[in-house]
Amino acid sequence: MNLQNEIESIIKEAKSSLSSCQAEDQLDATKNLFIGKKGKLTQVLKGIASLTVEEKKTIGKFANEAQAEIESFLEEQRTRLKESYYSESLKSEVFDALRPIASSERGSLHPITQIQYEIEDIFTSMGFSIMDGPEVETDENNFAALNFTDDHPARDMQDTFYTVDGNLLRTHTSAIQVRALKNLKPPFRIIAPGRVFRYEEVDASHENTFYQVEGMVVGEGISIAHLIYTMETLLSRIFRKTVKTRLRPGYFPFVEPGFELDIQCLVCEGKGCSVCKHSGWLELLPCGLVHPNVLSAGGHDPKRWTGFAFGLGLDRLVMMRYGIHDIRYFQSGNLRFLKQF
Ligand code: DAH
Repeated sequence: MNLQNEIESIIKEAKSSLSSCQAEDQLDATKNLFIGKKGKLTQVLKGIASLTVEEKKTIGKFANEAQAEIESFLEEQRTRLKESYYSESLKSEVFDALRPIASSERGSLHPITQIQYEIEDIFTSMGFSIMDGPEVETDENNFAALNFTDDHPARDMQDTFYTVDGNLLRTHTSAIQVRALKNLKPPFRIIAPGRVFRYEEVDASHENTFYQVEGMVVGEGISIAHLIYTMETLLSRIFRKTVKTRLRPGYFPFVEPGFELDIQCLVCEGKGCSVCKHSGWLELLPCGLVHPNVLSAGGHDPKRWTGFAFGLGLDRLVMMRYGIHDIRYFQSGNLRFLKQF
């Protein structure tokens, strides 16, 4: 094979190797195999020494052209690799900021559940534990142990759904106070959120099914001061501002003394407006010091132990927070209402 043929076959081989390269660094390595210092073309040109001057000229020119051809082919290949790299990555990385996202139907927590979780966080941060109780209760837990005697007129305060076996749907979470007293050793602090039921005519402010959080603290030397401090801490954290409170006397058989706790109107800050019916105050939660009979019924000596209790209505709290005027929305299953929270 003469030199010219050898050079031609080197060009061919170089082109086929270069065109099968998949990355730029492969191109450079392949280039060195052919036209680098120790490359094939360079080796072949060493044989030029034995040629005549005339032949040297022709072959020299031919070799130079071969080198140029390989180099320009290499640049073409470099462009090919770059283009395919960008087009591939564009295909996979395309980001269209204006493309509408697929709408996904995500649920959300009911506003009553949301406020329940908030209240649980506030109380657990103050060292309370969370208790639970059944929705179907005994008369004993819902009434008798809470100092409602059989013929106590206060039983009429709460119209009750009875079950055929003589139990009832709990009318208040206070039933869980009884379970706490029977099952826990004082001192203790608990809250008990739950659903409660009353045989009520339903209207914008009355439901037959609603939610309460019961609270109870029993210990030595527990007083009204502890009650007020705990309520003010709770309410300031719920409403995210300092909330002024006042106590008025209120009657519940299981507390003595019993109170209605009012908060200064959040809307007018006490000046009087339509929300507080121009009184400057909003009735918020009933509470009191645990009645000695209730402590005794739970098996605790009322001379040693005292405590406070309160019952917070969650529906009303959510209504106040969002300015909702009809309690019936909560159980309506109305998605347009629920999706706002
Ligand atoms: N259980 C009462 C009700 O539902 C509310 C209540 C009043 C709870 C006074 C208490 C309390 O713990 O001390 O009407």
